[in-house]
This record gives sequence, structure tokens and C-alpha cells, in this order.
Amino acid sequence: MNARVLIVTSEAVPLVKTGGLADVISSLARTLRKRGIDASILMPGYPAALEAASGLQDAAILPDLPGGPGRLLAGTMPDSGVPVILLCTPGFDARTGNPYVDADGAEYADNPLCFGALCHAAVSICSGKTALAPPHVVHANDWHAGLVPMLLKLGGVQGIGTLLTIHNLAFQGNYPMAHADALRIPPEMRNADGCEYWGQLGFLKAGIRFADRISTVSHSYASEILTPRFGHGMDGLLMARREDLRAIRNGVDTATWNPADDPLIARPFSLVDLRGKTVCKRELQSLFGLPADPFAPVLALGSRITHQKMADVAQVALPEVLKRFPRAQVVILGRGDHGYESGLAALAKHFPGRVGVHIGYDEQRAHALHAGADMLLHGSRFEPFGLTPLYSMRYGTIPVASRVGGIIDTIVDAGLSGAPPKDASGILFDGEDADSMTAAVSRAFALYANPSRWHAMQCNAMAADFSWEQPAQEYISVYREVAATAAKTAFDPPVKLIVSEDLLYMTA
Ligand code: ADP
Ligand code: GLC
Repeated sequence: MNARVLIVTSEAVPLVKTGGLADVISSLARTLRKRGIDASILMPGYPAALEAASGLQDAAILPDLPGGPGRLLAGTMPDSGVPVILLCTPGFDARTGNPYVDADGAEYADNPLCFGALCHAAVSICSGKTALAPPHVVHANDWHAGLVPMLLKLGGVQGIGTLLTIHNLAFQGNYPMAHADALRIPPEMRNADGCEYWGQLGFLKAGIRFADRISTVSHSYASEILTPRFGHGMDGLLMARREDLRAIRNGVDTATWNPADDPLIARPFSLVDLRGKTVCKRELQSLFGLPADPFAPVLALGSRITHQKMADVAQVALPEVLKRFPRAQVVILGRGDHGYESGLAALAKHFPGRVGVHIGYDEQRAHALHAGADMLLHGSRFEPFGLTPLYSMRYGTIPVASRVGGIIDTIVDAGLSGAPPKDASGILFDGEDADSMTAAVSRAFALYANPSRWHAMQCNAMAADFSWEQPAQEYISVYREVAATAAKTAFDPPVKLIVSEDLLYMTA
């Protein structure tokens, strides 16, 4: 029997992506399948997803979802062949831009109904109401899928284990309780012991309350979310479930982010031959309208332009950095809150020829940025994992990042003075103020001016191993924990053939 896992998510590359969640889902599913787990992805049928997925076929009609009828289409990911099931509803059909907010940045009013429908669709699959094989485990991700464990219980669906992964506790999906009727949540669940969260209907709250296990994406974040500072009001609830809370770090898709073989960069390079990076730097400068100066330290910022990512702090720190270091150049790629976007875009006007800004979401520019910059500024007020600094490290671009969450677990700090430790791979700073950020960037520039120290850090950064193998195995162990007794063996390691010098033997 093959172990079947249904991964419920709102985004997955290359169909739809607004952040790291999309990267994580697709890499995880692919790695699980390599390990013999029959992993499928269930996600909304946004127009972009319908266009990009391959071989879509009708799989089920769901006449009775919140907000109206829906349809499931089953196909595969165009790049990896991972099976994907798309839920089409009139609500998701209308999402031609950002999946969550309109052009003015306001949340769509029908979000609770749309994502409620996604959760109900998962339950229909689990309860065998469609022709799709029910999974042994449902892996719900973030608030969008948060209702699944509770709805399974309400529907009396037994024998299917549930795992909820929290990628970002700041996004909780809290809506007026008035939606409960449409979402088919009965009165007995509309209290603190059910899905109620400070008077509202909480999608993530319901997930935390009812999933068999909960996980999050780094060890440090798993500890942080148990505290009031990082718990976003959920710390008490998470504390109550800490026995069931697991930390499984994310991985990096090492094939997509590979300087030696990346079709999106100007010239390949590697740890042993960094010459291509010089070409990539020139290319980046040209792409962002900056003079081609091989000796200018190029500081990049490439993330969602939001409060989480300290866009407000960067807006104050960067002018100071540019004044202090007359040769420095800054490139900014991102999209997010309009106020911060225009604040950062204004820097290009104030520092012509020294700051290049592209407001937008752009994979090509993202690769060019990681490959061509010397350092990446990645401030975060909280960071569950933080894929972006790891992408930059793969390209020998040194991260200057906040000492929070996953960053603590993945970057070895050079410290703010003296010789960096032998294994240093970045510069970390504390606090949320512009002075701390400026001091960390200044330290990066000082190290950059010392080629042997800089090169040692680049080597450490490029050699760091954050592949998916280990985390995928850890997910499989949790799936096994939550699977029904009869299904557990399906999650055992596959029998592998190992060839030694003169002996062929089997191992479990
Ligand atoms: P988060 O998920 O909080 O945004 P991560 O660093 O874990 O943070 O993941 C962000 C992902 O989104 C990365 O893959 C990053 O390259 C990508 N990304 C963010 N903004 C942009 C952008 N403007 N253009 C291209 N990719 C972006
Ligand atoms: C979230 C977090 C980010 C994490 C990503 C994938 O968006 O903000 O830190 O890497 O999810 O888990």
C-alpha cells in the first residue's frame, strides 16, 4: 500500500506564489514522492493556476460548498509532475491578481467563504465523496486550510491523521462569527473550546485546536511562538498543545537555486570558480540602471515589502548607509504595502545612480539579484524560517539579517566586530531600529573590504546544506505518528537495495 498524503495549501510554485509557502509546498511534495509517498496538492483554482497546471481533467462536482457549488479538476504540476487538485469556485475564478487582496491591498470580503470551501473540499475527498482516493493523512498548511481537522471531526470522518503546519502565525484568518452558518460550523463549536478566537471565527485557531499534530518551520520559531512577543495572541493555546508541537525546518530547492546551473543568471559560477559572479554583478547593475562598478559593494533587498520585513526600518537606514558609504549601491526588488513601496521607490530619486528599485514580483530579477549582489539585507520583526537569505547564500551573497526565528538556526553570525568565527556565513542584528540595521550593514561593508575574510564567509555560505532530504523524512515520521494504526507501515522507510563491494543486501 502506498501512503497517501493530501497537502492542502493556498499556493504552490509554479502555479501561484506570493511568498515562501509556495516554494515549500512544491519542494516538499516532490521530495515526498521521491521517497515513495503518494503526495498530492489541493489548492484553489485561481485563474493563474488553471492556466499553468498540466493535463487538468474533471474529478468531481461539489454542489454544496460554502458560497455555492464547486468543481475539482485533477492534473499535475507542469515542472515536476506532482499531482495537483484545483478547486474551482466563482470566488477563486475572480482572483486574477493577488490571491488574497484586491488592487488597493484590501482583503477580499469573500475570503472566509472561499477558503472555507477549500477546507470543505478537502473533507469531501477524505470522506470518499469524490472519485479521488482518500488520503491516509491530510497536511493542512496555514490558516487557509485551518478548518480541515475540525470539519473532519464534525463530519465523523475517521482514520485520517491530520497535521497543521504554521508557516506564519501572523496570518490567522479571523472573521466575524456570522460566517459560521455559511461555513456549516454548528453552534457547539462556536466557543473558546472550538473555533472561537476573541469573539471571532478563527481558521488557524481551529487548526491548532483540532489537528492531531502541529508543526512549524524552524526550531527557534517553535520556541518563540510559545511566548507573548511572538505568539500573536496564540501563545497560550500553543502552550496547551506543546506536546504535539513539532519543529521541522524548511529546505531549499537546490536545483532551482543553483549558481552552477541557473538559466536565469548571466553566467554560472561555483564555490571553486567565482568569476561568473562578477559578470552577474555587472548584469544586476545594468538591470537596475546602476553604473557598472565592480568595486562598489552592492546591497540588495528582495522580499515582500511589509512591516514583517522591516520595510519601514530599511526606509530610514538605507539613506544613512548611502551617506556613510559613498561608493555603495542598493538594489530593491519587492512588492507589498503601497506606502512602504513608494517610500523605498523614492530612494531611487534621492540617490540617482546609486539606488535601483523594481516594484513587482519577478522570478528572473530575483535570481539576478541573489546572484549579482554582494550582500542581502533581510530585516524581519519575526521570521518563521526565511528562505530568501538561504537563496542568497547559495550564490555567495552574504545575508545581513535579523536575529529571529529560522534565521538564528540557519545563519552563523560574524559578530559586529573583530575577526568573524571560522564558520561565519552572515551578519545578524538585534532590534527593530534603523541604527541597529545601519550598524550591521556597516559591519558587512567593513568585512567586504577585507577580501580574505569575505571570501571565507562566501565559502561557508555557499557550502551550507539546507536540502529537503532531512526535513522530508521528519514530515514522514509525523505522518506516521498521526496515521491510523493500519496505515502506519505505509509510512515506514522503503526497502532499499544497497550495493556494497561484493555483497548485495536488503535493508529497511
Ligand atoms: P516570506 O514567505 O515571509 O515572504 P521567505 O523568505 O521564506 O519569506 O520566502 C519568500 C519567497 O518569496 C522567496 O522565494 C522569495 O524569493 C520570494 N519573493 C518575495 N518577493 C519577491 C519578489 N518581489 N520577486 C520575486 N520573488 C520574491
Ligand atoms: C512564511 C514565513 C517564512 C517561511 C515561509 C515558508 O511566509 O514568513 O519565514 O520561510 O512561510 O515556510
